[in-house]
Amino acid sequence: MTTAEAIRSRRSVRTFSGEALRPEDAQKIAAFAETADNPYGLPITWMLLDTKKTGLSSPVIVGEDTFIAGKMRRAPHAEEAFGYSFERIVLFAESIGVGTTWIAGTMDRSAFEKAVSLAADEVMPCVSPLGYPAKKKSVRESLMRKGVKADSRLAFSKVFFDGAFDRPLSRENAGKWEPALEAVRLAPSAVNRQPWRAVVCADRVHFYEKRTAARAGADWDIQKIDMGIALAHFALTAQTCGLPVSFRTEDPGLPVPANTEYIATYALG
Ligand SMILES: Cc1cc2nc3c(=O)[nH]c(=O)nc-3n(C[C@H](O)[C@H](O)[C@H](O)COP(=O)(O)O)c2cc1C
Repeated sequence: MTTAEAIRSRRSVRTFSGEALRPEDAQKIAAFAETADNPYGLPITWMLLDTKKTGLSSPVIVGEDTFIAGKMRRAPHAEEAFGYSFERIVLFAESIGVGTTWIAGTMDRSAFEKAVSLAADEVMPCVSPLGYPAKKKSVRESLMRKGVKADSRLAFSKVFFDGAFDRPLSRENAGKWEPALEAVRLAPSAVNRQPWRAVVCADRVHFYEKRTAARAGADWDIQKIDMGIALAHFALTAQTCGLPVSFRTEDPGLPVPANTEYIATYALG
């Protein structure tokens, strides 16, 4: 399965078959995780955690036997970096038939933090179960998906703009950026809130966070993790179109709507 296919087929999986994660799949994911860098150059330590040995679980997940968790030093852009690298792992897992769900809230956080031996200067923003999707979703999972309208996304022209925030960009006018922007649109986000916005200015695409949620904790912003996911979907798709991965933090100073914060720019040349 290609990255583009993985982006289209991935859904959160909360009901697993009960089959243990096969050692060869665990090995592939662990090896891939070592290579899953991010444009911020921030290192992240990934750990696969056996639920039988650790007693870890999530109240919304059934039938799993393994979780993956990542921890990193607190640093500027840690959230975007975490989102970027973890989504690369999620898409890799999807490509080998292993289901995942990003989990930031529905877990016993202190038990997970203990299991990864989190240090005082580190954060462990999210975890995910790893396993094989069950044939049928649990009732709880179906209700959760309905609750957050998990199968729908905001329209293209509601989140992407042509040169300025008051000029919606249609899919038809997006030109060479269409595949990468569409990949952003399809990305997963916390409570499916889709905080990403992008303004296309010729050979640059400026990304912004439209904050719709209160900051989850005092020290990190969960919607910046969503932004990292969006940047990963954009860059991975641009790469398949023969474009380089080329991000910079260089605010163009465009007028922005309320609660909207500049995050990063993808620049050709
Ligand atoms: C950063 C982040 C945190 C999330 N946290 C949770 C969580 O705590 N519990 C949960 O059940 N789903 C969680 N999700 C999954 C989202 O609800 C899900 O991605 C969204 O509803 C879209 O559905 P889809 O992933 O099937 O496309 C999280 C997703 C992201 C990106």
